[in-house]
Amino acid sequence: MDPIIAATHTDPYPYYAQLRAEGGLAFHPGLNLWVASSARAVAAVLAHPDCHVRPVQEPVPKAIADGIAGQVFGQLMRMNEGERQRCPRSAIAPGLESIDTREVETLVSARLVTADAAGLYNAMFRGPVCVVAALLGFTPAQGRAVSELTADFVACLSPLSDAAQLTTAHAAAEHLSGYLIELLDDPHNHSQLLAGIRQRFASGAPQTLIANLIGLFSQTFEATAGLIGNAVLALIRHPSLRSESTPVEDLLAEVQRFDPPVQNTRRFVTTPCEIDGVRLSAADVILVLLASANRDPQLNDNPDAFLPDRPNRRSFTFGAGRHQCPGQRLALCIAGATVRQILTMKPALDRLTWHYRPSVNGRIALFSDSSKTAQAVRCSTVR
Ligand code: HEM
Repeated sequence: MDPIIAATHTDPYPYYAQLRAEGGLAFHPGLNLWVASSARAVAAVLAHPDCHVRPVQEPVPKAIADGIAGQVFGQLMRMNEGERQRCPRSAIAPGLESIDTREVETLVSARLVTADAAGLYNAMFRGPVCVVAALLGFTPAQGRAVSELTADFVACLSPLSDAAQLTTAHAAAEHLSGYLIELLDDPHNHSQLLAGIRQRFASGAPQTLIANLIGLFSQTFEATAGLIGNAVLALIRHPSLRSESTPVEDLLAEVQRFDPPVQNTRRFVTTPCEIDGVRLSAADVILVLLASANRDPQLNDNPDAFLPDRPNRRSFTFGAGRHQCPGQRLALCIAGATVRQILTMKPALDRLTWHYRPSVNGRIALFSDSSKTAQAVRCSTVR
C-alpha cells in the first residue's frame, strides 16, 4: 500500500491511521513527496500561502501544454493562485453558493433513471453535468452533449491518460468552448446563474470566463459521480438505510466525510517554510490526504463509525482555505436528489458488483449487474 494506491483500495482507512500515527506530515521516500495525513497538518498545508496548487516551473502539465486543453487548464481558478484564481472565483462562487435547490431537485427528477448498473452509471456520470449545463441555460440535448464532452475533457487532468485520450481531450475542449461561445451569444438565455456570473465578470477576459465555465463541468463530473457511488455503497453496506424515509441529507453528509470521492489533493512548495514543525524546501511536493484527516480523532469523535446523525461533523472533503470547493452545496443537492430517486426505484442493490476506476485520487465506484461483465474502465483525474 502507498498513499496513492490507497485512494482506490477497498479499505484504505487502517493505513491512513498508521500514517497519522507515524507523524501528521512525513516524507515518503518511495513517492518522493511529503504526505499530510493528520487533520492539523492538512489544515496547515491548505492554509499556507507558500503551498500552491501547481509547480511554479510547470503551471500547465507538459503533456497538454501545446493544445487547447492546456489553454483551458492554464486559466482555471483551480489551477492558479493570486488574481488568476481570485478574479474568476469571485465571479462564479456566489452564483454556485446561492443555487435554488428546488430547481436542482426538479432537474434531477426530470431524468429517467433505471434500476440497474447502466441506470446508475448514467445517474452518476451523466446526470450531474446535465444539471449544471441546464442551470447555465443549455437545452437537455445540449446538456447531454456537454456531459459526453466533459467525460473526454477530464482525461487531460489525469496523469494516467494515454496519448489517444489526450488527443480526444483537446478536441473536447475545443467543442466545449464552441458550445459556451454560442451560449454566451444567445440573446434568449434566461439562466440567472449565468447572468450573475457575467455581471460579476464584466471586466474579465472572455476566454477566462469560458475556461472556468468548462471548469464547472470538469469539477462536477467525477467528484459528484464518486459521491453518488459512495452513497450507493453505503446503502449496500447498511440495508436498514434503504428506505424512502431515510433522511438523505444526513446520509450524504456522513458519506462525504466517511468515504470521500476525492481522497487527496496536492500542493507545491514555492518558498522554504515550516509547517506543523517540519522544514520544507522550495519545490517540495505535498500529498494532502483529505480522507485521512476526516478520520482523525482530533477532528471527529469516534471517526471510524458511520453515523448519519453525527453531531458536530467536520470534514476536509471539499478542501479548505482559498481553494475550498464553491460547488459543495450544489454537489450535495444533486447527489441528494439522485439518491432519493434511486431509493424510490428500490433497485436490487445486492445484485451489484463494483470496482473503483483507476485513479490517483478519485474513489469512484463502477457498478455492474453481477450477471454482466464489468464496464469498460477509463482513466480518472487529479482534481
Ligand atoms: C462531491 C462533489 C465534489 C467534491 C468532493 C469536490 C471537492 C473539491 C475539492 C477538494 C476542491 C479543492 C481542491 C484543492 O484545494 O486542491 C474543489 C475545488 C473546486 N470545486 Fe469542487 N467538489 C465537488 C463538486 C463540485 C461541483 C459540483 C462544482 C461546480 C459546479 C465544483 C467546483 C469547484 C471549483 C470551481 C473548484 C476550484 C476552486 C478554487 O480553486 O478556488 N466542485 N472541489
